[in-house]
This record gives sequence, C-alpha cells and structure tokens, in this order.
Amino acid sequence: MPETDEKKIRMATESYKRTILITGGAGFIGSHVVRLFVNKYPEYKIINLDKLTYAGNLANLKDIENKPNYTFVKGDICDESLLKDLFAKQKVDGVIHLAAESHVDRSIKDPFLFARTNVLGTLNLLQAAKESWKNDYSGKLFYHVSTDEVYGALEFDDTLFTEETRYDPHSPYSASKAASDHFVRAYHDTYGMPCVISNCSNNYGPYQFPEKLIPLFIHNIRNKKALPVYGKGENVRDWLYVEDHACAIDVIFHKGRVGETYNIGGFNEWTNIDLIKVMIKVADKMLGNPEGTSTELITYVTDRAGHDLRYAIDATKLKKELGWEPSLQFEEGIEKTISWYLDNQDWLDNVTSGEYQKYYEEMYADR
Ligand SMILES: NC(=O)c1ccc[n+]([C@@H]2O[C@H](COP(=O)([O-])OP(=O)(O)OC[C@H]3O[C@@H](n4cnc5c(N)ncnc54)[C@H](O)[C@@H]3O)[C@@H](O)[C@H]2O)c1
Repeated sequence: MPETDEKKIRMATESYKRTILITGGAGFIGSHVVRLFVNKYPEYKIINLDKLTYAGNLANLKDIENKPNYTFVKGDICDESLLKDLFAKQKVDGVIHLAAESHVDRSIKDPFLFARTNVLGTLNLLQAAKESWKNDYSGKLFYHVSTDEVYGALEFDDTLFTEETRYDPHSPYSASKAASDHFVRAYHDTYGMPCVISNCSNNYGPYQFPEKLIPLFIHNIRNKKALPVYGKGENVRDWLYVEDHACAIDVIFHKGRVGETYNIGGFNEWTNIDLIKVMIKVADKMLGNPEGTSTELITYVTDRAGHDLRYAIDATKLKKELGWEPSLQFEEGIEKTISWYLDNQDWLDNVTSGEYQKYYEEMYADR
C-alpha cells in the first residue's frame, strides 16, 4: 500500500467502533453503499478498496471524499500482500465485498478476467480475512454481494427465484459469481467464518457505467443515437433502485443471520422493450421532444449468446425476517434516474469519452 494511504488510515484507526472494508466502492452500487455507510455511521471507519478498472470512478464519491471516517485505497483484491497488510494494520472487522467484473457482454469476450477477479479475488479476500481473524470471529463479518443471475433463467410464468432455487448459471459472468458464492459458503461451513450472502436483481439509478441498458439508452436518447435492443426485447428483468439495494445491504450487514442467504429484489418485472418505451416517454418529455420522438431510434440487434429469458426475485424472506422492502415505486425511481443523468451530463460525457481514466493515470502514475 502506498505510504500516504497507510499513514492516513493509521492516524484515524484507534477511535472508531468498527473498521469496515468495502471492496469495489468506486463502482456503481459500491459508491452508494460507501456513501450510505460513511454518512450514516460516523462511528465506523470505512475503507474503500478499489482497483479503478474502467468501471471504477472516484467522481462517484466526490461528496464524501473528505469525510474523516472515509479512506480510499487503490488496489486489487487479487493482490495477496496488499490484503494481508490492510487486514493486519487496519484491524478490519467487517468486509462488504462488491468488487467484481460485472458486465455479461464483457464476460463473453474475456471469461478468464471474470474468473480471476470474481473467483480468485473473492477467494483471496476470504483467505486474508481468515488469516487475519485467526479463528477469533467474534464481532467479525464477511458479507458477499452477489446477483440473481446465479440462479439461471425462469420461464414466462409466475415462478420466482427463492433462496432455495438451484444454481444454474449460464454466462461466464454468472458462473464466476456462482463460484464465488460457493467459496464464501465453503469458508463458512469449513472454517466457521461468519459470512452472509445476498443475491440481488438488476439495479438502476445514478452513477451506473453507461455500457448498461438504462444509462446507455438515456445517453443515446439525448444524443439521438440508435437504441440497440437484443432479439425482440422480450427478456424480462426485475429492477430495483440502487439506493434501495444499499439500504438492504445495510440491514443485512447489521441484522442478517450468519450463514444465511438473502434475495433482494424490486417485485418489479419489465420486458426490455416495455422498459425502453417508458424511458423514451419520460426522457422525451424531459427533453421537450414531442411524445414518441425517440421511438424511431429503437434498433433490433442479434440476441446475446445464451441470453437468459427471465429473472425475477422473491424477496419475501428479507421482508419477513428483517423488515426490508423497496421504498421507491418504479415510476418515481425511473424519473429520478433519467433526470439525474440529464442533469449530470458532464459525468456521463466524461465517462463515455474515457476522460476520467486519463485523470487517474496521471494521479496514480507513481503507484
Ligand atoms: N449492477 C447490478 O445490477 C447488480 C445486481 C446484483 C448484483 N450485483 C453485484 O454487485 C457488485 C457491484 O456491481 P456494480 O454494478 O456496482 O459493478 P461495477 O462494475 O459498476 O463496479 C465494480 C467495481 O469493482 C472494481 N473492481 C473490479 N475489479 C477489481 C479488483 N480486481 N480489485 C478491486 N476492485 C475491482 C471496479 O473498479 C469497480 O469500481 C458486483 O459484485 C455485482 O456482481 C450487481
């Protein structure tokens, strides 16, 4: 770890009630989790470990970067010695693990990268926690954030993924997440490490990298570019506003039963094409375009290989046991989201042009 980061963390170590290592905190969901924990728990020290791949962006955390209980460390979860050092020196007692390669299309092009980060990186993190905690697990927790995609695909009926649904991943991304979930359970069952896992449906909201459907389409509607729809647009996803996911993670981290899995979802299923039509309606209105203007941008393209038909989560366990449920109706969430991207065009332009990465290259050139 660079000396300056180390000093900064060491200076602030002693007075905090807990030290929580959040991995992947510069990404989409991670940045919302970091923000929530830093603001809601000033008594916790939050260390954000992120490699800053193309998907990591420190601009996502501008509003909290100077908070006294927050520290950023640039690093790779596959770097054994960095993790050893972090755990040993910073007395990490909680881990919320989000760092991952997360885009299915990229996993089809480069499955090995997904195996390295998502499987070996998770294993590395588990091992670093195990070695540091030395079987003294009181007050410790390893929380692994996973996806509903590990369950495979549903038919077009009313079945839902429950925590008992058999794993059946189809893409290299979901296979790598499934493997990482199994390693987390193995560390719980074999070594007694206190672990908890959540599997969440598709997230939407501010700060999502614009290779994913919702921010990409907002960007394209604004710039009058094609809206590429896979197949006939009939695939169904269950959408959850990202801040609701962050709240669920907070609840599970503090109240979830060790060794358990919790499904998180929005009870909010949409076919891709219907979702796109809603987005067009809201975005055209906000942009002052006559209704339906952007419909002509819809372009059907060859379907993604192995494209799962339908995902839908049953989040009843989480509601019954821990009292969590989504706070936002989809109509409100999608309006908030579209308006955020339209109001933050600099963020979107910066990310789409790759400018933000040049900034990091200069900033971290010596590391
Ligand atoms: N986006 C979704 O809809 C969704 C749904 C359910 C679960 N998840 C899971 O939530 C987590 C976060 O997803 P996201 O959409 O925010 O992803 P993201 O791609 O936006 O962010 C991933 C972050 O991880 C960092 N990272 C990647 N490789 C790393 C490494 N080797 N070491 C350290 N940091 C690394 C990246 O720099 C980035 O900041 C993932 O584990 C994903 O599987 C995502």
